[in-house]
Amino acid sequence: MASETLDVVELLLTAEIYNSQNELIVNDLPSKIRRALWDSKTRNVAKPIKPNKTMIRNMFSIEDVENALKVNGKPFAYAAVDTYSGSVRITEGSLDSAAEWFKKQEGARDRIFENPVLAYYYGSVAEEKDSNICYQEVASKNPPKEASREWIESIIEELSEDKGNGREWLKLAYIKAPEEVRESMDELILTERQKDELQKIELAIKNKEHFKNIGLYDIGKVLFVGPPGTGKTSFARALSKKLSIPIVEVHLSMITDQYLGETSKNIDRVFALAKKFDPCIMFIDEFDYIATSRTASDEHSAIKQAVNTLLKAIDNTSLVEDGVLLIAATNHTRKLDEAVWRRFDEIVDFERPTLEMRKDILDTILRRIEGDIDTASIAKKTEEYTGSDLRMVVREAVLSALLDKRYNLVQEDLESAVKSFDRRSGLKMTAFIQE
Ligand SMILES: Nc1ncnc2c1ncn2[C@@H]1O[C@H](COP(=O)(O)OP(=O)(O)OP(=O)(O)O)[C@@H](O)[C@H]1O
Ligand SMILES: [Mg+2]
Repeated sequence: MASETLDVVELLLTAEIYNSQNELIVNDLPSKIRRALWDSKTRNVAKPIKPNKTMIRNMFSIEDVENALKVNGKPFAYAAVDTYSGSVRITEGSLDSAAEWFKKQEGARDRIFENPVLAYYYGSVAEEKDSNICYQEVASKNPPKEASREWIESIIEELSEDKGNGREWLKLAYIKAPEEVRESMDELILTERQKDELQKIELAIKNKEHFKNIGLYDIGKVLFVGPPGTGKTSFARALSKKLSIPIVEVHLSMITDQYLGETSKNIDRVFALAKKFDPCIMFIDEFDYIATSRTASDEHSAIKQAVNTLLKAIDNTSLVEDGVLLIAATNHTRKLDEAVWRRFDEIVDFERPTLEMRKDILDTILRRIEGDIDTASIAKKTEEYTGSDLRMVVREAVLSALLDKRYNLVQEDLESAVKSFDRRSGLKMTAFIQE
């Protein structure tokens, strides 16, 4: 069966079932269908869905809808196109027959396992229920609406309508939808403690209501501490993907302004911005840029004021009430004063990877590269290297293999990449000392 035909029939079945089953909600729609029918004002896909020719043309790039709905040269028996209104739907009383037909087609199973609405029908509604199809399982794998770009766009749209304000706020942060995030947890090698922290964060998010009920509001503020290149930013982004909530990335250097008072205002703005994206991760990078010790020699009152604003903004942000999971990252521990530390309920250390971790990181990076490499031996030669350093080594090795007209890697490529990396960082060190 032409995949075009299956595309259209899947849409028609999904619409019919979604419209008739009260339990089904917007998160049960597969992202492709949700995106096409998304209403940014209500941030929802309203019931009933009424597929029509234009919608189908746009969704699947199908020119001739009638033709796409042909089976063996004849019009599909269980659907009709209304010539006047252009509406397309399963004909009255034909849902079961249409669904039965659909299920028998090649490739239909894969579609059902990616479409909670269909899974619901075949697993719990159909005359002959299929015990191999579990709605809950399919639904749990379907990304929720908050994971999509259109979710973010709807909020941005609303902010932009709020003349002046909202538009200005958007310049202070990068906002990414989970479906756009490249980093993923299974490509990060974590320490046992980091894995524990990850679990705690997930539990806190899932049990927000519980924390509210028992009156514990002080959760969901996490500080990542560690040298450059140890995976802090990657972890925050991968978390956004894992939890399917957007990430609002703030660089403190971006919001500090030369004008007195403007920095403080920007801090308030960016926190207000994050709260609009409930639920989301607010990731504050370069945290030490502003959260420096207030008691130190720094007499500059503008900075002090900004630090106080930042601390107050952190106090006034809550995962339980605002849906904002706050993650701040810093390279320096010494620069942060006691008042800052106190505000975080979890501190996660990002250390330079151990021997074992370095091997695992190398194995992960090399996963898709051809070549039989003894990564344990490279791990031994890369003490003090961070994950980011190891990535650079592999990139260097790949490039030199390409110079040699090879797509695969041999041990020697990596060995010499390590040597040249050592040489380079050696140079960097001397330059630094001479400065
Ligand atoms: N533990 C790790 N496992 C796998 N990859 C890692 C690990 N640590 C770092 N990397 C890789 O190194 C690169 C840089 O990491 P990242 O930018 O997250 O570091 P960072 O701690 O945020 O650094 P900075 O403090 O400079 O912002 C990423 O591509 C990441 O995949
Ligand atoms: Mg970073």
